[in-house]
Amino acid sequence: MLKNFWYAVEFAHAVTRAPTKVTCLGQDFVLYRKRDGSVVCLSDLCVHRGAALSAGSLVGDRIACPYHGWQYEPDGACAKIPANPEGRGIPKKARVDSYPVREQAGLIWAFLGDLPAEERPPIPAFPEHEDPAFSTVYVDMVIEANYERTFENVVDAAHTPFVHGTRFGNPDKPQIPDYDITEDDWSAVADIRLSPPPARGLWKRLYKERPAEVVVTNGWYLPNIVKLHVRLPFGDMILYDHNIPLSRDRTLVKIVGYRNFFTGRWADRDARKRIRSILLQDKPVVESQRPELLPYDLPDELHLRSDALQVAYRRRRQKLMADGWWVGDDDAAVAGGRAGNAAVIPSPARRENPELARAWQHRARGADPRPRERTTEGESE
Ligand code: FES
Ligand SMILES: [Fe+2]
Repeated sequence: MLKNFWYAVEFAHAVTRAPTKVTCLGQDFVLYRKRDGSVVCLSDLCVHRGAALSAGSLVGDRIACPYHGWQYEPDGACAKIPANPEGRGIPKKARVDSYPVREQAGLIWAFLGDLPAEERPPIPAFPEHEDPAFSTVYVDMVIEANYERTFENVVDAAHTPFVHGTRFGNPDKPQIPDYDITEDDWSAVADIRLSPPPARGLWKRLYKERPAEVVVTNGWYLPNIVKLHVRLPFGDMILYDHNIPLSRDRTLVKIVGYRNFFTGRWADRDARKRIRSILLQDKPVVESQRPELLPYDLPDELHLRSDALQVAYRRRRQKLMADGWWVGDDDAAVAGGRAGNAAVIPSPARRENPELARAWQHRARGADPRPRERTTEGESE
């Protein structure tokens, strides 16, 4: 799992004044809206005794822990400890990590890492979101597989005739013509020519004649997004597929789907149903893959020309791992990790405020930029 990226952690419409727990990179976070509507993302691990802040309640723009009522500001600093007698100060270490948030393209994005703003990788563009010609649907599903397996599955054009049969592929024409990749540090995209299946259901009304091929734009955007743009004879269907690592072995797939045909709300149900049925076809195959985790070395699996998008991803991932952006799987304390450790993704404040450098109770996951000094309070590392 890669830290130092913007992750879409929830649909924007699902985040309200009621605290919501979300999970990503094997860690729990709490999201809530402040009174002005902007969204806060904090580590969901109270620094006192580790209760989940998401089970607490809001006091103005602060969140109060359900266990002993400590109140945290949106920047993560504890502002009130009810058990303290009047006049007693609040320890500097009484703070949780607060992550930068953006609301964009119908999603809440949290920056899960400690890079300063100017060094953060971009959030990809979603031009369809602002385009009134498109309608939008939101779909999600949990897959019991590692997120890199579910992610690669969506850039894998060659599986469609086999896994999706006549729904989204043509078993009579499984060949993938060679394609060129347009690549930068954060994405790789290709136009792939596929033979379409015959139309079914609602779409039949729009299908006059089946074309010999359709151009599908397929590509990945780091850390976990896949774009699939299918040009149908009667319009465009564009899916953005977010593969959110809940834990090492579980992925929450969130899809935002756009279409510029049948744009009435009446057709949303059909659009969601089509997306769900495609995901349900992928699910058992992806859950069966072994090893469960994506191999590190390229020669550990056999690649063909048609696998070029996946190979581009694996190469880029190796580079980011070498740069220390990989978050180990063994130190996740909150969601499904080892029970004896409390470690969190470090937030930017750890780097940005030198005076706070040692003010963190919870150990940072991944490379830790903090100076390693022992303090009288007996810091753990
Ligand atoms: S565990 Fe949160 S206030 Fe005690
Ligand atoms: Fe698929």
